[in-house]
Amino acid sequence: MDKYYLLAPGPTPIPPEILLRMAEPIIHHRAPVYEKILQGVREGLKYLFQTKKEVLIFASSGTGAMEGAVTNTLCAGDKAVVVEGGKFGERWANICKAYGVKASILPVEWGQAINPALIAQTLQKDPSIKAVFTQATETSTGVLYPIKEIAEIVSRCPGTILVVDGISHLGAVELPMDEWKLDVVVAGSQKAMMLPPGLAFAALSDKAWEFVGKSTLPKYYFDFKKELKNLTQNQSAYTPAVSLVMGLAESLKKIKEEGLEKIFARHAKLAKATREAMLALGLRLYAPQAYSNALTAAVAPAGVDGQKVVKILRDRHNLTIAGGQDQAKGKIFRIAHMGYVDQSDIIMAVAAVEMTLKELGYAVELGKGVRAAMEVLVKVGL
Ligand SMILES: Cc1ncc(COP(=O)(O)O)c(C=O)c1O
Repeated sequence: MDKYYLLAPGPTPIPPEILLRMAEPIIHHRAPVYEKILQGVREGLKYLFQTKKEVLIFASSGTGAMEGAVTNTLCAGDKAVVVEGGKFGERWANICKAYGVKASILPVEWGQAINPALIAQTLQKDPSIKAVFTQATETSTGVLYPIKEIAEIVSRCPGTILVVDGISHLGAVELPMDEWKLDVVVAGSQKAMMLPPGLAFAALSDKAWEFVGKSTLPKYYFDFKKELKNLTQNQSAYTPAVSLVMGLAESLKKIKEEGLEKIFARHAKLAKATREAMLALGLRLYAPQAYSNALTAAVAPAGVDGQKVVKILRDRHNLTIAGGQDQAKGKIFRIAHMGYVDQSDIIMAVAAVEMTLKELGYAVELGKGVRAAMEVLVKVGL
C-alpha cells in the first residue's frame, strides 16, 4: 500500500473540504451564483492580505502576477532595484530584463537576508529608481527578508514603490500589507493558501495604482486596471478558473475561521520544531539567522548528497520535499510547513529524514530529531 505525503514548498497538501468544493459541478461565471461567491472571495482576500484594497485574481501560476506587477507599474527604461539572494530574486531580474526595465541587482549571499541599509543607500544615491522588487520569503534558501524595515525606507521615497513577492509567504508568515505600507503584494494559490496551482493574486496600494496610471509597458491578459474594473462588479475580464475560485472560497473560509494570528503561530511552532529537529541531528540550517516559518532549509551533512536525501524520501518513504537549486543543489534539502500542515506531518517528516540519513551512512541516533521536535511541540502547546 502506498500513502503519499507532500511537504514541498509548493504545491502543498489540500484539505478534503477544499477538494470536495472544487469537485462540485461547474457553474457559469456570468451567473449571479458565481458573482455571490466572488463577492465573498473579495472580502476573504482582503482579510488574508490585511488590506482595504481589492486583491486581483488571475488564472496563472504566481509568476503571472509577478510579470503583471512589473508591466502594470513601470515604463520601458525605468530604473528598478532587485534584491537577489536566490532563485526567485533572479526571476524579478529576468522579468525586468524581458520588458526593458533597467534593474540593478542588490546581490545577497544565499542563506542570508538583505541589509535594509543597502536599499536606503541605493535609493538615496539615485531617487529616480521607480521600484524595489523583493521576496518576503525566498523559497530557494528559506530566508525571511526584513520587509517591514524595507517598507519603512521605501515609503519615505515618493517616487519609488516596493513590490513584494509573497508567493511562499502569505498565509504562513505575517505580511500586513496596509500597516507596513507595502505597495504591491503578489501571491500564488499553491502555497499557504491550501489550493492547487493555478491562481495568482496581486494587491496594490494607492501609490502603486498611481504608477499604474502612468505605466506604458505592454500588457493584455495581466491588465490590472481592466481586472480591477471587472472585479469591483464581481466579475473577471476573461473566463475565470471557476473550480479553483470555488476552492478559494472554501480556503478563505477556513483561514478566517482559524484566524491569521493562530495560523502564524501554528506555522511558527511547526517551523521551530523542524529547525530544532535538524539541529538535534547535527545538521546546520542554510538560513541560520533569518529563517522563514514557511519552510526549513537544512544543509546536508558532509559526504551526504542533498539530492539523494530528497530521492530516497520520495522513493522509499513516499514523502516529497524539495532539494536545493543552482548553487545550493546537492547541498541542502527543504522541508515546507506551509498551509495544511500539522504537528503529525512534522514528526513523520523528521522521522523519515532520520531514517534516510541513516540509510545514506550518516551517524544518526534514531529518534533524536523527533524527540527535539516533540519537545518543542509539547512546550509551545499542541
Ligand atoms: C517566492 C516565490 N516566488 C515565485 C514563485 C513562482 O511561482 P509559480 O511557480 O507559481 O509561478 C515561487 C514558486 O515556487 C516562489 O516560491
